[in-house]
Amino acid sequence: MERVTLSDTLEFSRLIYGMWRLGDDTDTSPAYVERKIQSCLDQGITTFDQADIYGGYTAEAVLGGALKANPSLRDRMEIVTKCDIVAPVGRYSDVKVKHYDTSRAHIEKSVETSLSEMAIETIDLLLIHRPDPLMDHFETGAALDDLIKSGKVRNVGVSNFRPWDWELLDSAMSNRLVTNQIEISLAEISPFTNGDLAFHQRLGTKLMAWSPLGGGSLISKGGKLGETMDEVAGAFGVDRSAVAVAFLLAHPAKLLPVMGTNNLGRIATISDALKVSLDRETWFRLYEAALGHEVA
Ligand SMILES: NC(=O)c1ccc[n+]([C@@H]2O[C@H](COP(=O)([O-])OP(=O)(O)OC[C@H]3O[C@@H](n4cnc5c(N)ncnc54)[C@H](OP(=O)(O)O)[C@@H]3O)[C@@H](O)[C@H]2O)c1
Repeated sequence: MERVTLSDTLEFSRLIYGMWRLGDDTDTSPAYVERKIQSCLDQGITTFDQADIYGGYTAEAVLGGALKANPSLRDRMEIVTKCDIVAPVGRYSDVKVKHYDTSRAHIEKSVETSLSEMAIETIDLLLIHRPDPLMDHFETGAALDDLIKSGKVRNVGVSNFRPWDWELLDSAMSNRLVTNQIEISLAEISPFTNGDLAFHQRLGTKLMAWSPLGGGSLISKGGKLGETMDEVAGAFGVDRSAVAVAFLLAHPAKLLPVMGTNNLGRIATISDALKVSLDRETWFRLYEAALGHEVA
């Protein structure tokens, strides 16, 4: 599996396994979670994406159960987690209004909890999950720099940030933001033209692409897009999901798709996407099917 350099201290596998849905599975036992991780590692997928809020603030502990049962897994993984969304569930049940919190106090507390839930010493990459309209970039930036200094976090980045949000936070830090995790797929094509990709390509940032299958919507998609994905899949002897991921891999921005399946059989074939190499016309067939019309 191709390795992608995000910073001097961070290298990711080209394909990433996301754990948003981990706690939704009927089996969340350490042994079963370890089978999922092992299946990823067998394919060279070493990067795992978490967030404090996943599973209503429970998914990190599900991963932690597997890491406690088999601590040797940790050294073979890069662990990403996120903070700043405060929703009135689980540990925040007493909160009345869902909100974002990028204060130093919240970020530091969240990191401590994430480390303890996942039973790890260091977070390889901490992301600010969503742009916070009340972010004091000097306070947030200094808190993130200090977390890197402390060794609790190796690298920091953001998620769902527009270029201006990125520039604001990055301008207040001595370390550089290393990635932006955004929604981009055949179900969400706007970043290809709204300036988000272009901004990061100019900076050389490697972007993480969340919900590459549109959260599963592309799998059941009918119409022209469904037909086109199936036709391309047939030509390469893979399924639709591999084509949807290959569509992202073909872009020169070097996108890093974050896959979300909980199904062991599907996890085992995530890397099928690497068998699909889309030429320009096939890429545009998919793009135009997603767009709903021919390009001008
Ligand atoms: N930063 C953010 O704001 C943000 C937001 C959302 C997600 N994320 C990250 O992105 C990751 C991926 O998101 P996602 O789970 O929405 O990704 P996804 O890969 O687009 O969608 C996964 C969903 O599609 C279903 N699916 C996949 N292949 C299928 C198939 N062949 N047939 C039927 N269903 C199929 C899966 O069901 P099965 O489990 O049954 O296969 C699962 O429910 C998350 O885990 C998280 O790490 C980040």
